[in-house]
Amino acid sequence: MNISRRTIVALPGDGIGNIVLNEAIRVLDKAGFNAEYVEGDIGWEFWKSEGNPLPDRTIQLLEKYKTGLFGAITSKPKDAAEAELNPLLRDKGFVYSSPIVGLRQHFNLDICIRPCRTYQGNPLNFIRRGIGNAIEEPEIDVVIFRQNTEGLYGGVEWSNPPPEVYNALKSHPKFIKNFGNVPAEELSVSTRIFTKKATGRILRGAFDYAKKYGYKSVTVCEKPNVIRETSGMMYRMAQQIQASEYPDIELWNTNIDAQMMWLTKNPENYGVIVAGNMFGDIVSDGFAGLIGGLGFACSANIGEQVAVFEPTHGSAPKYAGYPVSIVNPIAMIESACLMLDHLGEFDMAVKIRRSIAKVIKEGKVRTYDMMKMSGAPDVIEKGAASTTQLADAIITNL
Ligand code: NAI
Ligand code: MG
Repeated sequence: MNISRRTIVALPGDGIGNIVLNEAIRVLDKAGFNAEYVEGDIGWEFWKSEGNPLPDRTIQLLEKYKTGLFGAITSKPKDAAEAELNPLLRDKGFVYSSPIVGLRQHFNLDICIRPCRTYQGNPLNFIRRGIGNAIEEPEIDVVIFRQNTEGLYGGVEWSNPPPEVYNALKSHPKFIKNFGNVPAEELSVSTRIFTKKATGRILRGAFDYAKKYGYKSVTVCEKPNVIRETSGMMYRMAQQIQASEYPDIELWNTNIDAQMMWLTKNPENYGVIVAGNMFGDIVSDGFAGLIGGLGFACSANIGEQVAVFEPTHGSAPKYAGYPVSIVNPIAMIESACLMLDHLGEFDMAVKIRRSIAKVIKEGKVRTYDMMKMSGAPDVIEKGAASTTQLADAIITNL
């Protein structure tokens, strides 16, 4: 047993972020995880009061302690952000930008891991019709590796591109053919930049994971037949890496569009999937829908120095102010399990996951999403468990 006490940066954020984070910490404590939590300021409140949703002191905490457990933040469009900023700070050049995106960029958290696994007995599981009208409920065990910092979300984009960019585009024969007579002011361009370093890291991350946890295949889910340079580079690198470093793991290649169709037909066929930023975002949401949706979708953001673990869902502001919270804490608790995996506390992670599995299989304690109710304060009277009751059930079964 590891007796050294760890320090984790707890980043509650906004809305339900704080609620689910507290429940996850309670579960971690009860599972025997020996840690203290220092709270990092992040989110809307800090945008409003100081013009920065990701204050430097929070960055420093993560620099020091390396591991963050993050709830969720609220983001709003530009005008709303302006309007809610402390009047003393207005017109001083503060511009809102998402602090979770900021964290990923600042610490280069380039490897995003999103496991999507079926819990038996979850009424939200994907089912399909089999032969003779039988109902089949295939077991899904997919882990998506999404490149988290580059590609179409890398932020290198223009409307009315400056002359040097416009002229560079004009040096490309396809641009001349398809857009040659469109003036710059009528153009918007979003680039999709892949680097060999980051592509190699996400691919090796996926292969390492497949090897470590016994998955037989890694699927590169891109579109190399059309997006020849970026998707093409990722697939070619995957072929080289597989041949030289992971000959025992099969390499599969799917196109994102076809993959989205196949996952609605045969999701059990896939194991580890690796993709660029946007396609990874899409395919992970697709699989998450098959295993219960936002209440179950967890993620890890891992860089070379720092790692941050978070549920995929946002701050769900409409449920944030309920006197008794109704949201599902499992996505957050699962994210905490990913943190335990990352820190090498595998037994503890297994223990928590087993307990979640037991509670779901028994089916006695279910939050409103698992009861197929619409979220409202009265779901508790109608038999749904509260956030705390579900976390309590997980703790009891540890
Ligand atoms: P959301 O994920 O906060 O909520 C969408 C809906 O999903 C909710 O209304 C609820 O029906 C359901 N849901 C979410 N979490 C749930 C849980 N734990 N248990 C049960 N049901 C759950 O997304 P929305 O409404 O689009 O955005 C709300 C705010 O969150 C926005 O300000 C958005 O910018 C922000 N956001 C933040 C993210 C983050 O912190 N990483 C990610 C996504 C959105
Ligand atoms: Mg998303």
